[in-house]
Amino acid sequence: MSDIPTRDAAVHMTNYRRMPVTIVRGEGSRVWDTEGREYLDFIQGVAVNSLGHANPGLADVIAKQAHTLMATSNLFYTEERTRLAELLVANSVLDRVFFCNSGAEAVEGAIKIARKWGIQNREGAYEIISTHNSFHGRTLAAVAATGTPHYREPFGPPMPGFVFVDYNDVEQIKAATTPRTCAVLLEPIQGEGGVNVPDADYLKRVRAWCDEQGILLILDEVQTGVGRTGTMWAYEQAGIEPDIMTSAKGLGGGMPIGAVLAKEAYAVFEPGDHGSTFGGNSLAVAAGAYVITQMIDGGVIANAMARGDQLARRLAALEDVSPLVGGQRGAGLLRGLELTADVAPEVVARSLERGLILNPVRPNVVRFMPPLTVTAEEIDRAVEIVGGVVRDLAAERAAAR
Ligand SMILES: Cc1ncc(COP(=O)(O)O)c(C=O)c1O
Repeated sequence: MSDIPTRDAAVHMTNYRRMPVTIVRGEGSRVWDTEGREYLDFIQGVAVNSLGHANPGLADVIAKQAHTLMATSNLFYTEERTRLAELLVANSVLDRVFFCNSGAEAVEGAIKIARKWGIQNREGAYEIISTHNSFHGRTLAAVAATGTPHYREPFGPPMPGFVFVDYNDVEQIKAATTPRTCAVLLEPIQGEGGVNVPDADYLKRVRAWCDEQGILLILDEVQTGVGRTGTMWAYEQAGIEPDIMTSAKGLGGGMPIGAVLAKEAYAVFEPGDHGSTFGGNSLAVAAGAYVITQMIDGGVIANAMARGDQLARRLAALEDVSPLVGGQRGAGLLRGLELTADVAPEVVARSLERGLILNPVRPNVVRFMPPLTVTAEEIDRAVEIVGGVVRDLAAERAAAR
């Protein structure tokens, strides 16, 4: 047995409960542990390895860039930073980009832009309407915007300026809007909150309300963006345009990168307003440019849509296999398997023993986020494993009654 878990526990802070696996290597949808065991990885760094583990093309780009230029700071121009910004602008409805290093930082940037815009253009408005069960990151402003109180409660008074409403309820947004409101902040699908998919017209109705009131719509596409839901951005499927958007996770294919994008009229940052030492570093943006190119020219988004449909069908069919399965939800390759009891941690633990890595996103929801390059055979194999787990678990529970 590897001694790494013991050494790890002796020196790390205890804010993570790790799975009992030490991963040494990955390739595509699969990883191997210190004992040589192979797993199908349907978490992928929590949706960051959009092209799978150790993608050879991405590895070549990163290696070449590392041998050429890694970091210059934002005080200089670089071709690769310009190129990724151009790609993001060309493949979205947004006009301007600021690069940072994570999802939380992207959300911080979005909050600062919306507040500055509100203070300048809406008589000092600074309040942002967010939703219960949302997740926007762990920095103090992002966590203040996050609708899960226990993530912020241990840390003293939260940053003011956020109000919370139920997700998928436009009337509550209307009721919460005041002259102090500058923006509404939403995930197109709540990821960490349980893969919660809103009604088909929700985002359209929120967009209409924001237009009517003259307030901004910020979409947090950190989890849903860059092909994850079967289109480049989830807003495309809702038929709307955000004013401000965040991206991170899959954008770097495994390299840490975040981005906040805004329409021209709302890109209010001026020199000195905001910054990041590492943001836009050549290594991360070269990776991002490769990822975006593969999404489109390499057919990766099309694969995400096709494999997502397959995963949805196969997961839905598990309802016939086990009374513990209540259905599936999501879009593209962001999927939640709904369970009829709070057994998600047990299902995840047993799936791991059978060689499949999943994530219990709620006590009764298991999340699936394979790489967007996943194959049809890998989807079938994963559903076979989890199907066996829920069938056996249901039988054991019935026998124990
Ligand atoms: C929608 C959303 N926003 C923001 C974040 C925070 O991203 P990061 O962990 O890179 O700071 C996450 C992470 O799960 C997320 O899902």
